Amino acid sequence: MIGIFLVLPLKKSAFFKTIKFKLSALFCSVTIALCLLASVTFYDHKKEVLFNQLRENATTLSENLAINAGAALLDSDEMQLSVLVFTELKNPGVLSAAILDHEGKALIHSDIKKIGNSVQEQPHIPDENQLKKIKPIMVNGKKIGTALLTMDVSPVLEKTHRLKTGLFTAALLISCFGCYLIIHIIGNMLEPLGVLNQAVAKIGHGDLNVRVMEGGGEEIRKLSKVFNKMAEGLDHANKSAEEGYLQSVMALSAAVEASDPYTRGHCDRVAYYSEQVALHMGMDKAFVKQLVLAGQLHDLGKIGVDKEILCKAGRLDSDEFDHIARHPMIAWQILEPVLFLSKERDIIVVHHERFDGKGYPNGLKGNQICTAGKILAVTDCYDAMTSNRPYRKQMEEKKALSIIKQEKGNQFDPDIVDTFLEAHPFFENRDVLDKRLEISSRGRVWLYDESFSATSQNKNPAAIN
Ligand SMILES: [Fe+2]
Repeated sequence: MIGIFLVLPLKKSAFFKTIKFKLSALFCSVTIALCLLASVTFYDHKKEVLFNQLRENATTLSENLAINAGAALLDSDEMQLSVLVFTELKNPGVLSAAILDHEGKALIHSDIKKIGNSVQEQPHIPDENQLKKIKPIMVNGKKIGTALLTMDVSPVLEKTHRLKTGLFTAALLISCFGCYLIIHIIGNMLEPLGVLNQAVAKIGHGDLNVRVMEGGGEEIRKLSKVFNKMAEGLDHANKSAEEGYLQSVMALSAAVEASDPYTRGHCDRVAYYSEQVALHMGMDKAFVKQLVLAGQLHDLGKIGVDKEILCKAGRLDSDEFDHIARHPMIAWQILEPVLFLSKERDIIVVHHERFDGKGYPNGLKGNQICTAGKILAVTDCYDAMTSNRPYRKQMEEKKALSIIKQEKGNQFDPDIVDTFLEAHPFFENRDVLDKRLEISSRGRVWLYDESFSATSQNKNPAAIN
């Protein structure tokens, strides 16, 4: 009862709904039933054989006694009858023997107390431990007496009991071994299905790079092949969609730059400087790629800023500054639905935050700002200072670097400033860099390029600036 209550909640478990469980349960039930049926059938057959042997033995012995006792009974030779009766007792399994006269009185009986008494001749008195055999003693077609023999059944019963125990144990062991084999074989057969199931779940969670081994049975192999083709198609379609979306946001970003001749090339240079700083820090490839792309798109939100304010020659008033300060959030909103640019979006939205918490849009400070965002803040400012602007002329390198140093711990993270200053001597010369970025085969969609990085990293700092 307790077991049923323990098992009932488990029935709701997903495991009990799996094909593996259902097939295993079916085949194990069939195996157990077959083992039990085989053992019961064998037991019944063997028991019948043993009892038949006992009956045949009893019949033979009682017939022999009846035949041998005929002449002695005619001669009333009690000595001979006694010899015959006690000789019968020497046979294995014989409990008692007797010679009865024609009235049913015991003339000779192995149990001396019963001599002279009337002895029950009924052969079918139920006694599970004894088997009685009665044979009439016939002489010249006339019954002159009866031979009575009682056999001990208990050795046969003991044998059948041992047989029953042995067969039950064997059936249990064979069932257990059979069930183990069945579960193992079904598990192996269904393993590719489990792998496919996991792969489909991964696809559902957006991992389109997942593929499965095309092994197992023919049906599974075909299913795996179709799955891989489907995953490949989805991956290709997704990459095309991502590439298309990337091209679109790049075009938007380029449109922002094109509307302001002073900021032309700014995003590409910021991406390049950021890349150099990240490589100098020893950041991994994924980090560098995200930072480069974020650098290229960091001013995307300016698409939502009035062009007059964006290109204003004089200083901005408070309202104009508030208006232009919306651009990180506008970029965030543009990129919000795009899953594959989520990391870049999180970098872009903090590129105007300050280390001292006085930045915008959220006033984050210190380590609340991600490392990539802190790098972007420095390189964005550096490129802005070293480029011509409607409200001022291009600043000299030394002055720009001096301002960046002054902002250590204020606008910028001190560690990032130190790394920037270490990496700065390795930066490509501004004119060379502009030309290189302009003639890049990928044009505006210049992405993280390992060969480009390698040549930049190996440059001799003395040759720069
Ligand atoms: Fe910006």
